[in-house]
Amino acid sequence: MNVVFLSPVYPPEMIEYTRGLAEVGANVYGVGDTPFEALPQKVRPYLTDYLRVPRIMAEDDVIERVSAWLRGKQIDTVLSNWEPLVILAARLRERWGLPGMSVDTVKGFRDKQLMKERVAAAGLRVPKSRRVTNENETRAAAEEIGYPLILKPIAGAGSADTYKVTNDKELDAAIKAMRGIPESSCEEYVAGEEFTYDTVCVQGKPAFENVASYLPKPLEMRTQEWISPVIITVRDLTSKKMQTGIELGRKVLKALDMGDGFTHMEWYYTAKGEAVFGEIGCRPGGAHLVDQMNYTCDIDLFREWARACVMHDFKASTERKYNCGIVFKRAMGQGRVTRIEGLGAWLRECGEWVCEEKLLRPGTPRRNWKHTLLSDGHVIVRHPEWDEAHRLSFAAATGIRMWAE
Ligand SMILES: Nc1ncnc2c1ncn2[C@@H]1O[C@H](COP(=O)(O)OP(=O)(O)OP(=O)(O)O)[C@@H](O)[C@H]1O
Ligand SMILES: [Mg+2]
Repeated sequence: MNVVFLSPVYPPEMIEYTRGLAEVGANVYGVGDTPFEALPQKVRPYLTDYLRVPRIMAEDDVIERVSAWLRGKQIDTVLSNWEPLVILAARLRERWGLPGMSVDTVKGFRDKQLMKERVAAAGLRVPKSRRVTNENETRAAAEEIGYPLILKPIAGAGSADTYKVTNDKELDAAIKAMRGIPESSCEEYVAGEEFTYDTVCVQGKPAFENVASYLPKPLEMRTQEWISPVIITVRDLTSKKMQTGIELGRKVLKALDMGDGFTHMEWYYTAKGEAVFGEIGCRPGGAHLVDQMNYTCDIDLFREWARACVMHDFKASTERKYNCGIVFKRAMGQGRVTRIEGLGAWLRECGEWVCEEKLLRPGTPRRNWKHTLLSDGHVIVRHPEWDEAHRLSFAAATGIRMWAE
């Protein structure tokens, strides 16, 4: 099998998918804008060949260059696991007449308004929403939808420019703050807990399923710097709450005509016991969610994703052994990390249940917490019992403290 894999070294976890493809026996033709000389040593053995393009986001240009590069070669599929490139991968598949999800299908996983329309058309619960392009439209939509509501860019990511609005004063402020954003979505605010629903699909059918709990909801994680965001995978998926979300997720995959590979969906669970659709992508969740899923079942989804896409098969165990929590930390102060407190005590408390400790070391410049959930590093811990996984995760959230100056 000859596979074109877009952006095999960026973001860094793409190296793991490149490995996975090589391990299931595929010849990997990587395409990216990283210069050949700058490819990390560890990825090189997994690449059959590599084309460096000037700008990986310049779709038409990439299509021309890759087509010229591979002329005369038999290619079996084109894959990408990075959100900005999923449409480009579909365009290449269409151009070469390869099987896999079409551009139109992938758009259902990329355009947040279109996905809600398609999911709603299947009779599933989505937040009421309106596409708005100016102040008048925003006020009219707010009138219709009522408070509380959410105002966010149509092409948003990482909760950037996303506002919860509960009264007229906040609406004025949000409208002001969003000037310059060409297209926004004005939505009914869905109160409730927030979860992910993640899968690896083989021809549309989930071969692997996962749910993770956001603590607190992503909007709060992304707007309050003092918070240490916690995300825990749920080991026991048999409860009514989990099943409600999983059923919604499976129907969404059907409605959007999923093919092979990862999906990452977000959903709300309301006080009434209803699951409401949030959004979905046809790629894995970021911020180490795939590592958490791997620790949950002691498997290698980087490789199994490759097997699903290349051989339409999935071989790993789906037995869930642990609840796996990740905790992101943010240092107090600006500049470089100067010290970490409470880490030793936390590590001793967790004992054998610790999976990873990757806090930025003193001397390292802080990361921008608004730009990346990764913040100033993370710890990962797992436990077979939910309450214990929750307790150890929150012990890291409150007990480990970092400073910078
Ligand atoms: N209709 C809504 N009701 C309640 N909360 C919402 C709603 N829309 C967005 N939010 C909150 O804002 C967050 C970000 O919104 P959304 O996921 O749509 O955008 P995003 O910027 O693509 O997020 P990310 O890239 O972080 O996943 C959600 O996770 C949720 O916490
Ligand atoms: Mg989101």
